[in-house]
Amino acid sequence: MSARGAELRELAAAPAAPGARGLLEPPPGEEPYYRPVGDEVEVFTAAARDRLPVVLKGPTGCGKSRFVRYMAWRLARPLVTVACHDDLSASDLTGRYLVRGGDTVWQDGPLTEAVRAGAIAYLDELVEARQDTVVVLHPLADDRRLLPLERAGELVAAHPDFQLVISYNPGYQSLAKELKPSTRQRFIGIELALPAPEVEAEIVARETGVPLPTAASLVRVAQRIRPLRDRGLAEAPSTRLLVHAARLVQAGIDPAVACRSAVCAALTDDPELEATLAEIVAATLG
Ligand SMILES: Nc1ncnc2c1ncn2[C@@H]1O[C@H](COP(=O)(O)OP(=O)(O)OP(=O)(O)O)[C@@H](O)[C@H]1O
Ligand SMILES: [Mg+2]
Repeated sequence: MSARGAELRELAAAPAAPGARGLLEPPPGEEPYYRPVGDEVEVFTAAARDRLPVVLKGPTGCGKSRFVRYMAWRLARPLVTVACHDDLSASDLTGRYLVRGGDTVWQDGPLTEAVRAGAIAYLDELVEARQDTVVVLHPLADDRRLLPLERAGELVAAHPDFQLVISYNPGYQSLAKELKPSTRQRFIGIELALPAPEVEAEIVARETGVPLPTAASLVRVAQRIRPLRDRGLAEAPSTRLLVHAARLVQAGIDPAVACRSAVCAALTDDPELEATLAEIVAATLG
């Protein structure tokens, strides 16, 4: 059987891996709320102007996805997001032949769509993807800006507005899961650090509508829990968890209960550690 025949059979048998299909979202019509925490907006803007790919580094819930949506709005570019996983193949990104009414037609994958349309392609947690998937990005992520579609026999030159963005969480990813230097060195690194407490409180208040002092007290809880990261907690509580807690408070839940449900329970399943966290909540919110 020809290589293409084999691919068609494989396709008929197996649908695309979950999460593989991205959607070209038009640029957000309304400005997404994003509170800069450093010089990330300026650096991203400069990188986009110079057509340099970007890696966003930061723990879960620190605002990476929100930042990318905000930049898509600022730069008025469509956005394609792909959640990478270890089953993601190169064709999940680039495209494949599909059988339609007896004909075989080429279907662009999410990355190809973004490359042609001049969109921002956000590959979330790229480090999770297989190496043979990652290398597809190499000619795209250097000054060639080319995406080879081997199976379709096409070499796609990226639209001038195409912007490649990947995310990387240095916290929980093991050393075995690192991008190769030949991949890493193609990207401008932007680190999204934790915001200063006043800034984080402002974000939580603005996101949820709780009064600023309430937001500030939730941030204090997080600040006291964060040092436990090295002592049993896999991840420190993120701004996202504080936003969740504030939403519960806004819905009428007592702040301590909100913290236990939205913060403590999300951080650990270990009863002892959860009890320690609950004590910190009670001591902080008094
Ligand atoms: N700087 C910020 N400005 C506005 N909102 C923020 C900011 N940082 C965090 N948030 C809030 O935190 C939530 C989580 O952020 P986001 O989903 O962007 O995290 P992430 O870094 O993409 O996490 P993950 O790695 O898990 O995908 C957002 O929905 C938003 O409410
Ligand atoms: Mg995200």
